[in-house]
Amino acid sequence: MQTPMPEGAAHAQLDKPDLMSVADAKAMGVPAMTELFKAHLNPGQLHFMKLLGFHKIKIESAEGMYYTDQNGRKILDFFGGFGSLALGHNHPRILETRKVFQEEKRHEIAMAFMSQYAAALAHNIAACSPEDLDMVFLGSSGSEAMEAALKVAERAAGPERPLVVYAENSFHGKTKGVLSITDGPLYRGEFKLLDNGVKVPFGDIEAVEAAFKAHPEIGVICLETVQGGGGIIGADSAFWHKLRDLCDEHDVIWVADEVQCGLGRTGRFYAFEHHGVVPDVTALAKSLGGGKCAMAAMIARRDIYMKAYGTPKTAMIHAQATFGGIGEASVTALETINVLYEEGLIDNAADTGAYLISELERLQAKYPQIIKDVRGQGLMVGLEFHDFSQTLPAVLRPAVAMLDDKLKGSLSGFIGALLLRDHDILVAFTEYNRNVIRLEPPLICERSHVDRFIAGFDALLGRGIVAIVRDFVKSQVS
Ligand SMILES: Cc1ncc(COP(=O)(O)O)c(C=O)c1O
Repeated sequence: MQTPMPEGAAHAQLDKPDLMSVADAKAMGVPAMTELFKAHLNPGQLHFMKLLGFHKIKIESAEGMYYTDQNGRKILDFFGGFGSLALGHNHPRILETRKVFQEEKRHEIAMAFMSQYAAALAHNIAACSPEDLDMVFLGSSGSEAMEAALKVAERAAGPERPLVVYAENSFHGKTKGVLSITDGPLYRGEFKLLDNGVKVPFGDIEAVEAAFKAHPEIGVICLETVQGGGGIIGADSAFWHKLRDLCDEHDVIWVADEVQCGLGRTGRFYAFEHHGVVPDVTALAKSLGGGKCAMAAMIARRDIYMKAYGTPKTAMIHAQATFGGIGEASVTALETINVLYEEGLIDNAADTGAYLISELERLQAKYPQIIKDVRGQGLMVGLEFHDFSQTLPAVLRPAVAMLDDKLKGSLSGFIGALLLRDHDILVAFTEYNRNVIRLEPPLICERSHVDRFIAGFDALLGRGIVAIVRDFVKSQVS
């Protein structure tokens, strides 16, 4: 309840707090940015940024495959925001589409009235999806899309079948529903989570079958088609075929999380298309926002969707998120899908990805004592290093022992930091397996970018493990 104003009291003008302007933000240097990050965003995270040397960099602009920092240094982006930058940074068609949308003063919030852009986006997503995967819910993050996927599946499965199978090593997001089927102790963080999960090893069809047989209350199975956070791990086609058969046999709804591996990243629109199977529910996010905004989608087979929300009585149960189908994000996603096809980026992911993998395999043959495995498909590539904690020369062990727990046994932190410092290349790390670097460059990546990456990586590995570790440790003390 509002406190009534005392009679006769003047309406005081509120003092403006000590606010920074957009111009202040633009002009801010690294020290001030660091202070504010520490004071208001995440002081603990600075620790890791310092370990990797990221804290010295202020990005001034980004275009195509490159970031440009405060000193004009161009950094080649082989991280790609964990798959959020299929079109690269600031794709001209995306910028133009958004500019026109703004100039025309289109409406954003699509709660009272429908949006022609959201409707067209849903049409496009359905057009890219096989069979009757054609009912779309629009949200703003991968977690939100996956929450929507679990909810539609749970309602369609019915209250008698509340159990959900998920995989070891899985990552589905950090909101509490999907966190409950995410297998990362760090992220689970001892929160009170849902207790309806049944965990199986990823890619183990016998374990899935045993679980289905042991628990008739299982109604849903949720799997990433390619485990991203787990370190780029796939399963073979035989697994997915058998999974489809088992789901049909036991009437279990299969949810395929394509948040990271979807939208062309592996060389097909959806990664499951490589296996000639179709799930019942799936989800997209990340690059759907064209690298420019937040957009996510849950896509369900029509019969599943209709069972869950198909009547006026049930239609609003999971509808009307404030920003669902918001205008500028919808038009951006609409254009993103057109660009993906018109610029041949999905084919390019397949071709350039195959080239990247073959070049990495060449380096694996050259440095077998350093590179343990090269895996992946398209431009979703995992590079695993041997664990060197036991083989490191005794003289370096005390220095390495002083490093953060996470970096001790893993070369990937050292290599990532030195690739950035000495070769202007950005790569991604893997929380679940510290020996794995993830390479998910934009799908506009050309062979020349792969050549540049490989040349830098080759030069770094050519120093040998001892020099890499020594250089990294030196960078920490200097
Ligand atoms: C497979 C998968 N699912 C879900 C998510 C969650 O997406 P978001 O971070 O947009 O909530 C991610 C994010 O990395 C992901 O990789």
